[in-house]
Amino acid sequence: MPDEQREEHGAAGALSGERVSPPASFVEQANVSDPGIYDEFEADWPECWAAAGDSLDWETDYDRVLGGDGPPFRWFEGGRLNASANCLDRHLEDRKNQVALQWEGRLGESRTYSYLDLHREVNEFAAALRELGVGADDVVTLYLPMVPELPIAMLACARIGAPHSVVFAGFSADALATRMDAADSEYLVTCDGYYRRGAPIHQKNTADNAAIEREGDVEATVVVDRLGNGAPLGDGEYDYDDLVAEHRGATVDPVPRAASDRLFRIYTSGTTGEPTGVRHTTGGYLAYAAWTAQAVLDIKPEDTHWCSADIGWITGHTYTVYGPLALGATTMLYEGTPDYPEKDRVWDLIERNAVDVFYTAPTAVRAFMKWGEEYPDAHDLSSLRLLGTVGEPINPRAWRWYHEHIGGGECPIVDTWWQTETGGAMVSTLPGVDDMKPGSAGKPLPGVGAEVVDADGDPVDPGETGYLVLTRPWPGMPESMAEQDGWFAQRESVRPSLERFDWAYFTEDGATVDEDGYVTLLGRVDDVINVAGHRFGTMEIERVLADVEGVAEAAVVSGPDDLKGEALYAYVSAAEGVSEDDLRAAVHDAVEDAIGAIAVPDVVVFTPDLPKTRSGKIMRRLLEAVTHGDDLGDTSALRNPEVVGEIESALDDPPT
Ligand code: WTA
Repeated sequence: MPDEQREEHGAAGALSGERVSPPASFVEQANVSDPGIYDEFEADWPECWAAAGDSLDWETDYDRVLGGDGPPFRWFEGGRLNASANCLDRHLEDRKNQVALQWEGRLGESRTYSYLDLHREVNEFAAALRELGVGADDVVTLYLPMVPELPIAMLACARIGAPHSVVFAGFSADALATRMDAADSEYLVTCDGYYRRGAPIHQKNTADNAAIEREGDVEATVVVDRLGNGAPLGDGEYDYDDLVAEHRGATVDPVPRAASDRLFRIYTSGTTGEPTGVRHTTGGYLAYAAWTAQAVLDIKPEDTHWCSADIGWITGHTYTVYGPLALGATTMLYEGTPDYPEKDRVWDLIERNAVDVFYTAPTAVRAFMKWGEEYPDAHDLSSLRLLGTVGEPINPRAWRWYHEHIGGGECPIVDTWWQTETGGAMVSTLPGVDDMKPGSAGKPLPGVGAEVVDADGDPVDPGETGYLVLTRPWPGMPESMAEQDGWFAQRESVRPSLERFDWAYFTEDGATVDEDGYVTLLGRVDDVINVAGHRFGTMEIERVLADVEGVAEAAVVSGPDDLKGEALYAYVSAAEGVSEDDLRAAVHDAVEDAIGAIAVPDVVVFTPDLPKTRSGKIMRRLLEAVTHGDDLGDTSALRNPEVVGEIESALDDPPT
């Protein structure tokens, strides 16, 4: 990346020494304001995580904070709990009439659920699921947009000990079928359709197509009537409202689960062509979600919290559903898009709901910045106390804009680094303790082991580039890592040497660290691309392209994008005699069918050939450098140097 662009999209702000202190008024009221927390946690590791465990209600107390001196790691060993009881039942005594869930619909309608309401409907739906045959450990797939029935179904599953698997509503039939088969899931909750930019999308048709493509059977499908047309139902299909009405007033005792029992699975993109299933535990994950929600997002029970991520991704699981509800706060759910019907929709919602904490993606901040400050300026945003970002690096210019125009210069910003795999935030400032450095996420959270190392596994000097490695287990770790002996990496071949650590996890992120231990993220070093905070495996998309008739060869790499930080660039060489226009449309349709509209490449570049080594391997790094306009480095291994010029001119002259 050229330096100028890095200033825009990466780290340079942090290296320039800019520091912003949290205002005293924030520090005074912060959940965590004692800088001693870092040393305290350090001195008492892993016992320090009792702070997270003890924030939950346990049906059976745990015997040890971390069982097992080595893998398998058992967080809160011996303990039994239920996630739905922790998010609902335990709040009834103190706050049954407080709003638990505030839903803002696409078409301007809204629904408000008190803790009592939410508890009631979760119980009723849990009873319905049971009657449909869902037992403990049966995986229930939830293929729903941002409607209240989604968190309700999640909590109903948790209540009866059935792990949920939420599949992002924008994924295609193929993608849904693959995920249901991989999870061996026989139960589906979906909806008839939903509105996007005012137009209905027929979700049930997609779900029906997935059922046809599936290898396994579907025992029961529950359909939420979102479009209000009374969707026709076939055999084994049930209307959500009818089910809930049939179970009116039913109560279901929360099933106590072992701390290490599975709460849910979620699919994300890895370096292989297949989506990776990440499995999170009931005790460790929930404790970590709650602990980080109070320490990092400073959520208090009386707060209204708005995490704008879709629940289809991990961010929505942790900071829309489980974290805020475990703390007894009000969580807000918004079905629509930020610019519909007007570009002030987000600010209008914040004003109307007096939102205290707003958590979003840097891509969204850059879009708000582009639309202009007149939209936020027209609203009273003084209820906001804290702002957050997640999913990608935030460039200093966007950070400053967010700080000034949304936070009025008064709200600290937490730039939280984490992954689907980590369950919750891992690297961030503590907003009531640390100074912020625009562009840099901050230090590893108290108790978290994170280091930036070189290829030999040695710590890099301040300012040097290296790999971010997590060096200690943490409560939010997924099952696969808890079970892993030694070092954990997605790919054995490309990782720094980790021999110096008893246990370590390579995050596949590049980073630098400064003298104060602040980590600045530089992006993925594997073949995963982060577009607008969503993860895509290049191989997953390349596989789809390779199957398109008329495509001879294709490679997908990351390219620059002002708004999204990164964009998906597909380089395609066409077979003889194939029209580029036809192929462009075919490429678009194939990706939309196989994965979903969100994975359709932003730019498709046709090239007679792809840059290759003498042994015929596609030089993806070189392709990425050309795309970014970077220095190409050593190109002596390149068999066909002439293609570089051809690609450069194709990039200069993009198709419209
Ligand atoms: C990137 C999202 C810079 C990173 C919670 C990571 C970030 C990937 C940040 C995980 C941040 C996440 N600054 N980069 N604050 N947060 N990332 O699994 O590359 O969808 O590996 O989890 O997002 O994406 P995932």
